[in-house]
Amino acid sequence: MENSVFEPYLERESVFKKDRDILRPSYIPENLPHREKQIDQIASILATALRGERPSNILIFGKTGTGKTAVIKYMGNEISKADERERVSFLYMNCEIVDTPYAILQNIGNRFVQDFDDRIPFTGWSIERVYNILREKIDEEKRVVIVVLDEIDKLVTKSGDDILYHLSKINDDLKKTKISLIGISNDLKFTEFLDPRVKSRLSDEKLVFPPYNANELRDILQQRSNLAFENGVIDDGVISLCAALAAQEHGDARRALDLLRVAAELVERSGSDKITEHHVRKAKNKIELDCVLEATRSLPTQSKLVLLGIILSEERNGTRLTTGDVFSAYRELARKAGVSNLTQRRVTDLISELDMLGLVNARVKSFGRGGRTKEIQSSVPILETKRVLEKDEVLKGMKNYHLKNQTTLLGLK
Ligand SMILES: Nc1ncnc2c1ncn2[C@@H]1O[C@H](COP(=O)(O)OP(=O)(O)OP(=O)(O)O)[C@@H](O)[C@H]1O
Ligand SMILES: [Mg+2]
Repeated sequence: MENSVFEPYLERESVFKKDRDILRPSYIPENLPHREKQIDQIASILATALRGERPSNILIFGKTGTGKTAVIKYMGNEISKADERERVSFLYMNCEIVDTPYAILQNIGNRFVQDFDDRIPFTGWSIERVYNILREKIDEEKRVVIVVLDEIDKLVTKSGDDILYHLSKINDDLKKTKISLIGISNDLKFTEFLDPRVKSRLSDEKLVFPPYNANELRDILQQRSNLAFENGVIDDGVISLCAALAAQEHGDARRALDLLRVAAELVERSGSDKITEHHVRKAKNKIELDCVLEATRSLPTQSKLVLLGIILSEERNGTRLTTGDVFSAYRELARKAGVSNLTQRRVTDLISELDMLGLVNARVKSFGRGGRTKEIQSSVPILETKRVLEKDEVLKGMKNYHLKNQTTLLGLK
């Protein structure tokens, strides 16, 4: 065979055993350490379904990476194993993807449509028609249907809570079948936005998943790394370090697993065969950089102009900019880009948003006689961020641009 550019990479021994997806968030392990209590609680509620009756609705809360999705999918598998008489249907939906009332009803409805030609189309029907078909089909046989709405807060933000009202009331319209709902959210405050009737119906039972501590994260990582890696690939201390770093943030198992996976990928690419603490630290930097760049990439154009204004002003004036400095840089860039000029007040708001995203640092500073101003500093890697900003259609022409107007000493014009 001719020498291929891939050859050095293909010949290399992998640190992974066959299946590298084991470290990805979509993988559900056969047991979930440190969630025994939550699993037992949910089992005690859902067992009713196996007896042919409707379980209480459940709301599950917990910060990101606390195992909510993993536990509920695990429960779905356990139910289908235990459901010998096949009278329970377990439907999982992620409301970030299935995010409109129509899509939700269509998804539930089609689960009970046998004939392909009778399927509810993706669009085009009135919501009433979809609802009626769903009601008719789901009620053809006696069964218990458990509908999981993961990331339910996204649905409510996007489409309001009408659909939840109708779903939670649907049992009144059914003769044979019973539906129960499980909502999952990492936003503890989301029920504040719900109609009180919906809120009380949805939360018959409420569960909170606490964050994992470093020891618990270590067990989770150990279980996965035994499955994912060949023996002896991981240095002592690697798992503890991943666990400690993730526990410092807020006990996020996804972050802990990401650290381990990215560290392993860095090792693979570098051609060495042992994962050390050094790789974990490099992985941490890489993940953080990716986060910053992703946040930058998804900013609206006006915010990108403000951020670029801050970066270019810093290049010219040094750090510690005032709102006036940033505004004048922004105005110059907006003019050059040919987009409409926002007011200074609006730009001040955008600066606060950038601050909240962690892309800049804006501190209020007081100085004599009650005067106050903001001191603004970027907190992004300059080169990489500029590269991302310059990819924006509107900011393309700003490559290697230098600001013209000097305002710092003159104050605001
Ligand atoms: N107890 C556990 N044992 C093994 N793996 C776990 C455990 N808890 C979480 N994980 C793993 O951590 C990752 C994140 O978990 P999961 O997706 O369930 O978080 P989540 O609570 O749904 O977060 P989000 O609110 O962001 O959706 C997944 O890869 C999951 O398999
Ligand atoms: Mg989840």
